Amino acid sequence: MCGIIGYTGRRPAVPVVVEGLRSLEYRGYDSAGVSFVHRGSLRVIRSQGKLANLEERLVTEPVVTATCAMGHTRWATHGVPAERNAHPHASGDQTIAIVHNGIIENHQELKDELVKLGHVFYSETDTEVLVNLIAERRRSEPDLLHAFASALREAKGAYAVCMMHKDEPNTLYAARMSAPLIFGVGTGEHFVASDIPAFLPYTRQVVFLEDGEIVKADAGGYQLMHLSDLSEISRESQTILWDMQAARKGGYRHFMLKEIFEQPRVVTDCLTGRIPHGHEGVLLPELEHLPTPKRLHIVACGTSFHSGSWGRHLLEPWAGIPTQVEIASEFRYREATLLDAEDMVLVISQSGETADTLAALRSVRERGGKVIGLCNVVGSSIAREADAVIYTQAGPEISVASTKAMCSQMVMLALLALHWKGRKEGGAPGTPSVMEAVELLQSLPAILDDHMPAMRERAVELARAYSEATNFFYLGRGHCFPLACEGALKLKELSYIHAEGYAAGEMKHGPIALVDPAFPTFVLALNDALLPKVESNIKEIQARRGKVIALTNPGVDLPVDDRWDIPAMPAPFSAFVALPALQLFSYAMADYLGKDVDQPRNLAKSVTVE
Ligand code: M6R
Repeated sequence: MCGIIGYTGRRPAVPVVVEGLRSLEYRGYDSAGVSFVHRGSLRVIRSQGKLANLEERLVTEPVVTATCAMGHTRWATHGVPAERNAHPHASGDQTIAIVHNGIIENHQELKDELVKLGHVFYSETDTEVLVNLIAERRRSEPDLLHAFASALREAKGAYAVCMMHKDEPNTLYAARMSAPLIFGVGTGEHFVASDIPAFLPYTRQVVFLEDGEIVKADAGGYQLMHLSDLSEISRESQTILWDMQAARKGGYRHFMLKEIFEQPRVVTDCLTGRIPHGHEGVLLPELEHLPTPKRLHIVACGTSFHSGSWGRHLLEPWAGIPTQVEIASEFRYREATLLDAEDMVLVISQSGETADTLAALRSVRERGGKVIGLCNVVGSSIAREADAVIYTQAGPEISVASTKAMCSQMVMLALLALHWKGRKEGGAPGTPSVMEAVELLQSLPAILDDHMPAMRERAVELARAYSEATNFFYLGRGHCFPLACEGALKLKELSYIHAEGYAAGEMKHGPIALVDPAFPTFVLALNDALLPKVESNIKEIQARRGKVIALTNPGVDLPVDDRWDIPAMPAPFSAFVALPALQLFSYAMADYLGKDVDQPRNLAKSVTVE
C-alpha cells in the first residue's frame, strides 16, 4: 500500500509534494513524511498520523528553497504506525533517503548481513534495510545509479521506490517491481508518484513504468532504464484525459456520498458505445480475439468479489456459462487443480493493483490460461497484464469504501453476460432478450436520479433508529445474497459495527441462535420469485423476537419493524436500486456515529500487499 511522490523542477518542491500526498492519502494514512536537501544536508521530516500532522511540523522547517523533494503517506506493513517507522528512511550515514511502497521479502537476511557490517537500525521496517543496502553498495559501485540498481537486484519482493542523495540535491531516482509507479513529464519539471492525481495539476503527460525499470530525473531531463543492465529504454509519454474536478468532492460532505450519487452517471458512461443504434447485440471489441469461455472463474477481493458473485447470477442463466466465483487470496493457491484448457478467468479490481488479484492473474497466465481484467484504473497493473481489459468507466474512486465502482462492475458484468449470450444465442428460457435487458439498463440512470434523494432521507432515519445496535445480520437470496454481503461489508468497514451477510436460507443452520431483540436483521425482500421464501425467513427471525428492517418494493405486504420501499425493477436489475440503498444506510450510520467516512481506520484504498 502507501503513496509515494517525488518532484524535481523549478517550483518550491515541498508544497508540490504535500499537495500530491493529499491526493494519495487514500492509499494509507498511518504516517507521512517528506525529505529534501537543505544547505548540503539531507532533511527528513516525518509525523505519525494524517498529513495534517506533517503539515504542522513543516511550518517551522526551511522548506522554501528546495526545488526537489519526495514524500510518502504510509499504510503500515512492517512495524507499527509510529514516527520511527514513517518514511522517508535515511541511511545511517545520512546521505541517502528513500520512500518505498511494497514489501522486501528477504529483508531479514539482508539486515543480518548489514548488521555484521556495522549498520545500525532504528525502525522495524524493511525500507530502512533497503536504504542502508544502497549506502553499502555505494562503497563499491562507481556511482549512485549503479548502487541503487545493485541493491534493488538483491531485494526480493515488491517495491515502488524513490531515492535522493544529499550530494545530488536536484536528482530523483525511482524504480518499480510489482508495485505501482508512474512518471510525470512536465515542462522543466518531472514527477514520480503512485497514482496520477498526485501530479495531475501540473502535467497530463505520463510514462507508465514497467516492472524492473529505473528512472533517473532532474529538472532538465530523464533517463528510463532496465534495472537488469541499466540499458536505456525509449518510451513515449501518454496523455491523460482525466478531469481533476472529478477527483474533488464537488460540494458533497464526503467523497463517499459524492460517489454514491454519481452512480446514475456511471451507468450511462458504462453503456456508452456498447449498444450502438441499429446494432443487435452488445459491443465488446476488447474481447474479439478471445473465444467464448466454456467455464468462467471470477476472481476478486472485497467489494469486487461481491460484484463477481452477483454477476454469476446473470452469466449462468443468460449466457449459459458455468461460473465459479473465488476470493483471489484463496484461488491463487489452488487454481492449478481448477482450470481446464477452455476455462477463462475474469479478474475484477477497481484499482487494478490488488496484490492477491494480480498474483492470481499472473499465475493463471504462467500456466497458459487466458485472463480478462475488469478494472477501473487505466494503465493499472491488472489492466496491462491481462489478455484483454474492459474498463469500468466509474472515474476516480477516492473514498476507501468502494461504491460506484461496484455499480460500474455490475453494469459491465451484465453487458458481458449479454455479449456472450449474443455469441451463443443461448440462455435459459424466461431470461430477458438482449434488447429487453438493454432497455432496463438504460432506464436505470433516470430511476436512480429520481429516487436517490428520498433514499438518502430514509437511510438517515433508519440509521438513527438503529444506531445503538452493535450487531447486524444482512440477508438475501439469489442475486440479493451478494448484495447482503456487500451491505454488511459496508456497515462494518465504515461504522465498525459487527455485521454479517448470509444467504437467508442458511440462518436456521446456526446463525439464528444469535438473534435477540438487540440484534437487528436487514433483509433484502424485493418483489421477485424468491420473495415467499424470504418472507418465511423473516418470520423465523421474528419468532425469536429479532427486529427486522426490510428493503422492499411498494405493494409488498410485510409486517416488519421498519420497511424501506425502493422502486420496483425486475430481478436482477433491482440490484442497481438496492445497492445505493445499502451504501446510503452505511454512510448515514457512519456519519451519525461521527466516524471518518472517507478514511476508515485500519484500511487503505488499494491493497497492494498479500
Ligand atoms: O481495487 P479492488 O477492487 O481490487 O479492491 C478490492 C477490495 O480491497 C475493495 O473492494 C475493498 O473491499 C473496499 N474497501 C470495499 O469497500
